[in-house]
Amino acid sequence: MSVTAVIGSQWGDEGKGKVVDFLAESADYVARFNGGNNAGHTVINEFGTFKIHLVPSGIFAQKATGLIGGGVVIDPAVLLDEIESLNKAGVGLDGRFWVSPRSHLIMPYHKILDGLYEEAKGAGATGTTRRGIGPVFADKVSYNGIRWTDFASGMFESRLKVQLELKNKIIIALGGDALSFDEVRATYRGYYERMKPYLRELFPLVQEGLKTDKHFLLEQAMGTFLDTDWGTYPFVTASTTIPSAASAGLGIPPRYLTRVVGVTKAYTTRVGGGPLPTEIHDTSSQVYQKFGETAATTGRTRRVGWLDLEIVKTAVALSGVTELCLTKLDVLSGLDDIQVCTGYKSNGQPVSYAELDSYALDKVELQYQTVKGWSEDISAARSFEDLPQRAREYVQMIESATGVPVKWIGVGPERDATIRR
Ligand code: GDP
Ligand code: IMO
Ligand code: MG
Repeated sequence: MSVTAVIGSQWGDEGKGKVVDFLAESADYVARFNGGNNAGHTVINEFGTFKIHLVPSGIFAQKATGLIGGGVVIDPAVLLDEIESLNKAGVGLDGRFWVSPRSHLIMPYHKILDGLYEEAKGAGATGTTRRGIGPVFADKVSYNGIRWTDFASGMFESRLKVQLELKNKIIIALGGDALSFDEVRATYRGYYERMKPYLRELFPLVQEGLKTDKHFLLEQAMGTFLDTDWGTYPFVTASTTIPSAASAGLGIPPRYLTRVVGVTKAYTTRVGGGPLPTEIHDTSSQVYQKFGETAATTGRTRRVGWLDLEIVKTAVALSGVTELCLTKLDVLSGLDDIQVCTGYKSNGQPVSYAELDSYALDKVELQYQTVKGWSEDISAARSFEDLPQRAREYVQMIESATGVPVKWIGVGPERDATIRR
């Protein structure tokens, strides 16, 4: 038995999907344990190009079994679409993809409330994906959630009735339209019928795998700094994103988690509101154009910034990262100078991320180091020695700042555009 977690060390979109896809070749189980379809993971391999939201990104590895743990919240329409399109692409999920009946369902009122809350907050909005994530997790922890098990136990209708009575009052008060019980019931009953072949209690499977020689690859969704407790609250997501979430979200005792791969983008991006200390605001600058990305879930433009080592160092310490995968190094090619934030100061004194709340982080003084860039296109590099000297130095700088080896370097979006060290 071995358990490896893959986590994002920044604000999400570090390239976890690609990394999980290539690490999955040695996995028996590939599993999601947190978040929902707010995640958007890009995978490019021999099956095609995919933006995956719920099915584990490691599912393309044919010997692996995909698991969605009870810690994940599920929009059934999104999951069923994803299953269908992956099956159509020849990925073949039947018999090797299981969803925990403990997982909570995103209901239509969760999405409506997500939007209404965002609008009510105006300029202070979180900038959520509007997928209903905050409201569904709020219902989960306040005992108002609806789970797949509620269909089998015959509790679905009565639980839905209570929830609709409560939620319709709030929706109407906030200027929205009430939902019909009959419509929601019929739609979700239909989803349940289609999901039945994939629902299975994971506990025996996971326990058996832990007792034998199975390898688990656990895929975090979102990034360390979107974590409800350790992220830039209130500009965070509604789930725990650090690896400890895998324990509750999948039923894997913490002592089994011995390997944590931290995925770090060679620069920084963020979608939605909240502090991004190294943000580049000049939209006409060469670097802004180079770093620009479109969000995989919402199609929004991602905010961009220089690499922030205080952030990466904090993630390494917090999540017990044992090795790093540096992604998108190829994007830095062609810059004369590259800025790297090496630490923060407040009132002239060094200060750490953990000592700052979101509003203080927004005002912190940044310590920058300028490193010389390289002009060569590195997208064909497949060994560390293929990289120009300055690109190698950039990688080594990250290793010495974090104290953790960079074992993989991404030089393009495709699965094999990767240097393995
Ligand atoms: P995730 O949410 O962490 O899985 O990341 P996303 O898929 O949302 O965003 C990462 C983006 O970077 C996607 O467009 C990937 O195709 C792309 N990507 C990942 N690794 C690399 C890399 O090493 N180089 C380049 N150029 N693109 C990459
Ligand atoms: P992956 O897995 C980047 C952000 C949203 C918003 C905040 C709260 O692709 O890295 P939510 O809809 O979760 O209530 O929104 O969290 N967010 C992400 N940002 N990548 C993600 O996932 C994200 N999932 C949520 O933009 O700022
Ligand atoms: Mg993403």
